[in-house]
Amino acid sequence: MTAPNPNDLLDVDPLMMDVLLDHYKHPHNFGALPGADIVHAEGNPSCGDQMEIALKTKDGTIEDIRFQGKGCIISQAAASILTDMMKGERLDRVRELTKDDMLENIGIPIGPMRLKCALLALKVLKAGVYGQAEWPGEEDD
Ligand code: FES
Repeated sequence: MTAPNPNDLLDVDPLMMDVLLDHYKHPHNFGALPGADIVHAEGNPSCGDQMEIALKTKDGTIEDIRFQGKGCIISQAAASILTDMMKGERLDRVRELTKDDMLENIGIPIGPMRLKCALLALKVLKAGVYGQAEWPGEEDD
């Protein structure tokens, strides 16, 4: 796993940092999802970390969603938060989700160096459900 640069985490609300660390140490929805009908894996090219997201859907609803892989605190916590957000949601909601939604739910300021970490799970989810064309490409636009 990649350690975060401590300088990226300065000026962070300690309570929100505790929430993120708890997601990292005890990730929700982590592991393989047998019988998944959508599975997609991608990496963060800037560090080589990998993430896979798997979904089970029924009648346009995400019945179950899990992730696995390795990464830094922010990428793993973001995946834990995102999978919590999406469980039970309409599949269409994946298309509606924005980078701002993701960053807002992470709850701490994310600097430019950590943006790809924070958005990796969202990128993998969108690419898995709708294909690469749905992702704008540059995470900082
Ligand atoms: Fe690799 Fe954050 S350093 S995903």
